[in-house]
Amino acid sequence: MIRKCLFPAAGYGTRFLPATKAMPKEVIPIVNKPLIQYGVEEALEAGMYDIAIITGRGKRALEDHFDVSYELEHQINGTDKEACLTDIRRLMDRCTFSYTRQKEMKGLGHAILTGETLIGREPFGVILADDLCDGYSNGVMAQMTRIYARYRCSVVSIEEVPQNQIEKYGVIAGSEIEDGLFMISNMVEKPGPEEAPSNLAIIGRYILTPDIFDILRETPPGRGGEIQITDALLTQAKRSMVLAYKFKGRRFDCGSVAGFVEATNYYYERMGNGG
Ligand code: UTP
Repeated sequence: MIRKCLFPAAGYGTRFLPATKAMPKEVIPIVNKPLIQYGVEEALEAGMYDIAIITGRGKRALEDHFDVSYELEHQINGTDKEACLTDIRRLMDRCTFSYTRQKEMKGLGHAILTGETLIGREPFGVILADDLCDGYSNGVMAQMTRIYARYRCSVVSIEEVPQNQIEKYGVIAGSEIEDGLFMISNMVEKPGPEEAPSNLAIIGRYILTPDIFDILRETPPGRGGEIQITDALLTQAKRSMVLAYKFKGRRFDCGSVAGFVEATNYYYERMGNGG
């Protein structure tokens, strides 16, 4: 039902310097797979096979990852190493990839607005690949498409975070209309401990209806001088309806070194290598 998924990947990744000086953080691997590939696999599991990526300067490695590497593939053809490319070849066969550049890093809202030319007027998913999610048997984006199918409005994914972490997130307030599903009445981007309307923080998974582009165009810069998707979603929530869904699974903030290390250990063990 939703065919397109947008991956904003133009950020500077300053928390990961110097690694991100010449390399996008989205190609940093968790064990042996780049973050962006986990994200594309999650999109595909949700039936989204048109992948739209927002890139910036120094992000060529992202495009190369989803392209054929003739020399390498010729070299390992017919050897046992070929199996290592099975997953990525499958993605490349099943998905289309399109790219556009965000010329100035004016925030996540601006990055999403830059994607309008690739998305057009249809609902779409958004995955921030540095938020790595293990939805166990059910990818988080697939879980969200089931909510969208019932309510046909924008949906954001949320999780409970400890009070001392809340200022890193967009935080919602709302009424619980079903177990774990909230109708949003307020949202604050990166609130101080006193301003936070709840402990429910938005993580890097969204389903957005296309009117969000019109709203983003009118949204002035907010916190940090950036165009905030949280501000645009609040406008949308007031005009119509936006839902917040407490996803089932586990999330790692791989934009931070601590989250990256935690995810690496978790996925390494899950691959049967631990202990
Ligand atoms: P972050 O807040 O993680 O920013 O952006 P960042 O620049 O990537 O990393 P730090 O904080 O400097 O370490 C959240 C997501 O939004 C994208 C990023 O690529 C990331 O996936 N983004 C952010 C853009 O595409 N463009 C922007 O202008 C800002």
